Amino acid sequence: MSIPPGAIIPGSLPKFRIYVLSSQGQYILWAQEGNSVRPDQLVRLAEGGLKEVFVDLDEAFKYEEYLEGHLGHILEHPGSSDGQKAEIFSKVSTNVVKGAFETSLGLGKMGPGVIQRTQAMIENALIFIAEAKSLQAVTKMIGHDYGTYEHATKVLWFTVAFLRDHQEILERVQPDYQTSDESHRKETLRQCGVAALLHDIGKSFIPQEILNKDGPLDGVEWEIMKRHPLNSLAMLLDTDMPLFVKKAVLHHHEDFGGGGYPMNLEGMNITVLARVLRIMDVFDAMTSRRPYKEPVPPLKAAQIMVGTPEEKKNGEPPGEDDRDRGMRQCFDGELLRKFIVFLGNMKLQE
Ligand SMILES: [Fe+2]
Repeated sequence: MSIPPGAIIPGSLPKFRIYVLSSQGQYILWAQEGNSVRPDQLVRLAEGGLKEVFVDLDEAFKYEEYLEGHLGHILEHPGSSDGQKAEIFSKVSTNVVKGAFETSLGLGKMGPGVIQRTQAMIENALIFIAEAKSLQAVTKMIGHDYGTYEHATKVLWFTVAFLRDHQEILERVQPDYQTSDESHRKETLRQCGVAALLHDIGKSFIPQEILNKDGPLDGVEWEIMKRHPLNSLAMLLDTDMPLFVKKAVLHHHEDFGGGGYPMNLEGMNITVLARVLRIMDVFDAMTSRRPYKEPVPPLKAAQIMVGTPEEKKNGEPPGEDDRDRGMRQCFDGELLRKFIVFLGNMKLQE
């Protein structure tokens, strides 16, 4: 199996054998697995300008584990091109989505066509992010909390899959949308995926003890948590991201019925992409396993999302219990209805 040399980070020694291809077309063992590879050999390999090195197919799973463990470093590494980084990123991220499909969502095995499309969707998003000079923000998020990265990847998948099926929503995402232009449609869809992937990057500023706290957050912790959309925006302010992406990132916790944060906006004052992200974000958060909670089955999550809330006590921070209260006031009813139909077509398990 061919792998880009940039995937091998000097100083982090892989547990698989690496081969190079000779000019006679023979695979020559270049490095034994583990500690027998010296960091300076890896530096020379990365700097040698080789386009590809090779791994035994039966060691592919070790290579994938290695990528997961070093993803943040690989994206930071100057030795590989943006295209190679996007390829590695999409491989790892597709495995994340595939894992969710097969376990928490109970959708069974992801077919090869879906895998391929997912890989392309994620690869495109990362190339755009690199071009818009925001790759560092993604790297920071991965290094800080892998769970946030996994969540962002799945939200990207849901957002793009949903909007691809709903042209009429996509048309409202940005003001100058050109209905008849196919390449413009694809570009907009890609930017929606980018917004989804970046929505929580501001969580890099929240201490892990708060992010993964086992139990409800106290008042101060909750105030810190509520800053993350602003932090996400701050990380994107100097980049070339389109305005509608920045707005969606800032407003992904605004509630349609009011009462969300950070600006307490309401209804149509919240951009359509932010309203879509609100739905995808909550659905994925509920159906995912985190260090502090078990996943909610997808159909139960959908029920809670369409459920009517009970009265909240004044000033009480929303905690885990909010799930059982119903969350209908958080979402745009029309979008939520379409999302539930979309989920129904995916045939989620109870
Ligand atoms: Fe968030």
